[in-house]
Amino acid sequence: MNFIPYGKQSIDRYDVDAVVETLRSDYLTTGPKVREFEEAITSYCEASYCVAVANGTGALHLASLVLLNRGDRVLTTPNSFLATSNSILYVGAEPIFVDIAKDGNIDLDLCEEELRKDSSIKAIYTVAFSGNMVNQEKLKHLRENYNITILEDNAHSIGAVYNGVKAGSCINSDCSIFSFHPVKHLTTGEGGAVTTNSKEVYERLLTLRGHGMVKTPNMKPWEYEMRELGFNYRITDIQSALGLSQLKKLDSFVERRVEIAKKYDKALEKSIVKPLYTYHGKSSYHLYVVRVNFSKLNISKEELFIKMRERNVGIQLHYIPINKQPYYKALGYGEEKTPVMDRYYSECFSLPVFPKLTDKEQNHVIESLMEILNG
Ligand SMILES: Cc1ncc(COP(=O)(O)O)c(C=O)c1O
Repeated sequence: MNFIPYGKQSIDRYDVDAVVETLRSDYLTTGPKVREFEEAITSYCEASYCVAVANGTGALHLASLVLLNRGDRVLTTPNSFLATSNSILYVGAEPIFVDIAKDGNIDLDLCEEELRKDSSIKAIYTVAFSGNMVNQEKLKHLRENYNITILEDNAHSIGAVYNGVKAGSCINSDCSIFSFHPVKHLTTGEGGAVTTNSKEVYERLLTLRGHGMVKTPNMKPWEYEMRELGFNYRITDIQSALGLSQLKKLDSFVERRVEIAKKYDKALEKSIVKPLYTYHGKSSYHLYVVRVNFSKLNISKEELFIKMRERNVGIQLHYIPINKQPYYKALGYGEEKTPVMDRYYSECFSLPVFPKLTDKEQNHVIESLMEILNG
């Protein structure tokens, strides 16, 4: 059995053909494919605007530049990849880590408690962890009743739908971001996007993606003006062509991920290992996360990781609490009361899930896990 990673891209000949066609075209970057890709995402997610960028981190950075000011206090989750809260720091704002709920997402009831106590809180950055969308009714309630900005980090969850609300539609948020890293649902190699329903936000995102530079029809042919400090977060036409081709298959990718998740759910029914949540239709399963109380086993988490790797299975851990990272500790974080996150971190790990995972490979993952835990 070859090594089975926790996540992996699915590339077929249509993807290869799309990339080659663009390589043979006149534009490798700033050409028509970028716009086409943005329009395709907009239409898929049912949002009004999309700005495609070089990676998900860049998407978070640009959105933060538009949504936040220096010193703003922002509620966010410790259960994410570093980029979510780093983007708050990039713009001189202050992340405040709130504990998670049972499903691994930020606890929105605790967020509401914080908002009641502290009216200076400017924003909430949520993450649809593992592909499982954040409770949209609750998000709507917070947005309507408190004067806050909401960013949804949907890096894990393109293709997910919550009671009719599509990930990225920004029905209950100001901006949403995606990542198109190869382990995600669709890939452009590296890549990301911001979606929004605000024209004003969209226009600023576009300017900031390109050095803060503006060119208007009344300017001389060579003229451009830099009006603010922007960046080069451009995505290429080559990447966009790949993204367009991948987007056509997104629904079937999500379907296959769900099928794999349901099979894990069933295989673990009588096991001491429990899924983070059993299938409920609101997750597009970027990750399949399980929990087990290691203190009740005669094997440590580290030993489990090593033994699974000896069997060529790459289980992973999502995530180390961000507030406990050395950089954050040096800033004074790390002592927040996050008992649910702490317990979750001691118990969680992720099993492989990606569209090309074969039934044989999945059986091997399950058998290896059971053998090691029962051995
Ligand atoms: C939740 C989350 N947000 C943001 C990012 C950053 O995306 P990228 O790797 O495309 O910069 C990731 C990447 O893993 C992520 O998992």
